[in-house]
Amino acid sequence: MGETAKLIIDGKSYELPIVTGSEGEKAIDITKLRQATGMVTMDPGFANTASCKSQITFVDGEKGILQYRGIQIEQLAEQSTFVETAYLLINGELPNQTELNRFSVLLNDHSLVHEDMRAFFEKFPRSAHPMGILSSMVNALRAFYPEIPERTEEEEVNITVTRLLSKVRTMAAISYKISRGHKLVYPRHDLSYPANFLNMMFDTPVRPYLIDEDLVSALNKFWIMHADHEQNCSTAALRLVGSAKANLYAAISAGICALWGPLHGGANQAVLEMLNQIYESGRGIAPFIARAKDRNDSFRLMGFGHRVYKTYDPRAKIMKEMCDRILNKMSINDPLLDIALNLEEAALKDQYFIDHNLYPNLDFYSGIFLRSLGIPTNMFTVMFAIGRLPGWISHWQESIEDPDWKIHRPRQIYNGLTKRDYIPLDKRRESN
Ligand code: CMC
Repeated sequence: MGETAKLIIDGKSYELPIVTGSEGEKAIDITKLRQATGMVTMDPGFANTASCKSQITFVDGEKGILQYRGIQIEQLAEQSTFVETAYLLINGELPNQTELNRFSVLLNDHSLVHEDMRAFFEKFPRSAHPMGILSSMVNALRAFYPEIPERTEEEEVNITVTRLLSKVRTMAAISYKISRGHKLVYPRHDLSYPANFLNMMFDTPVRPYLIDEDLVSALNKFWIMHADHEQNCSTAALRLVGSAKANLYAAISAGICALWGPLHGGANQAVLEMLNQIYESGRGIAPFIARAKDRNDSFRLMGFGHRVYKTYDPRAKIMKEMCDRILNKMSINDPLLDIALNLEEAALKDQYFIDHNLYPNLDFYSGIFLRSLGIPTNMFTVMFAIGRLPGWISHWQESIEDPDWKIHRPRQIYNGLTKRDYIPLDKRRESN
């Protein structure tokens, strides 16, 4: 037996195996704990629980390290494209030229959305949030395209995967066009994945969209940075739904719903709304910092803090530089960027934020970047979702192939009323 931990309960000692990951992190394996001791562990929010072994993404929250399949996020953001990074996450290795060409052809071949789905898009109220539309439509995809059967040829998996990657991007652009009451723009075979998206969003019959390669490259980086983040809330939701053997579309749809929350992906929208609120208040940042520190106030500094990072999020650094570059290039003077920079400077010097290890996260600068591209605020989290798809898909694949696969079913400690008798309706007291 390898390394073990000793647990002593009522004087009785239990040996628990220690599992070590390839980057040296350790976990106490409690798989047999209940069987041996009759007890379970208690870990609200799963802050101390590894729910699986995974070979996809490594995060060191103390040192600010993020790697996809072993490659650092800084290198991928600088040198890769979103499509190549998606291939890396899903297949485990960077593609060679032939593999990349094939993947790109599949993405192009599957970029159209079934015309019958248009009726669904058109019937949503104009005020519907695009994340609600996206999660419903991804679930609806299952009705139009078959799910992956149990035993599948590699090609069938590739088609389902590329279908999702490609169509979700098209569906996001459709929901935007419909919300504006504008004519739909179809995907084009001659454009790259991000260029196609920008074109579907912003091309109009009266003003053709001019593709700017610097913006395309920035959008590539944006999506690369969002592509995966190991067992975050939406990925955990997707794995949980998938663990019941629900189909891939349903699992992704669940991931989208979780991502929508303002403590997770919805933070990018919430950050911009907060910066706007500060701007419109005309009172500067101080009252907002004071509110964030007040235990009796539920207000939080959106875009700050992270469950795993206890230092600066490496993605926030890249995002901040990118914001600066794109705003400069486009000669945009965004007062919200100034507020964000002041907020960051003040928070990083403030004892409360220092003591709580609260640093800017990925979402802090991402809204300002998206705004500079012309993306409306309510579409920000959809942009996150498009980027997170390769991660979700790779986690879904890994979980269904996991030899330790089990339906996810946590335990609880019941602390409600103990056993009592049923009281017939006519014997129950009316409350005063
Ligand atoms: N502003 C003020 N105080 C905060 C903040 C914040 N943004 N974040 C955490 N704290 C405090 C919190 O009040 C608590 O204080 P105390 O121990 O004195 O009661 C302490 O820090 C620990 O907070 P927690 O909520 O227990 O930490 P968590 O790991 O459960 O939550 C988080 C992580 C990201 C939900 C949280 O930091 C937060 O709400 N941040 C704002 C929302 C946000 O930016 N979310 C995006 C996360 S990154 C990208 C993504 O996941 O999509």
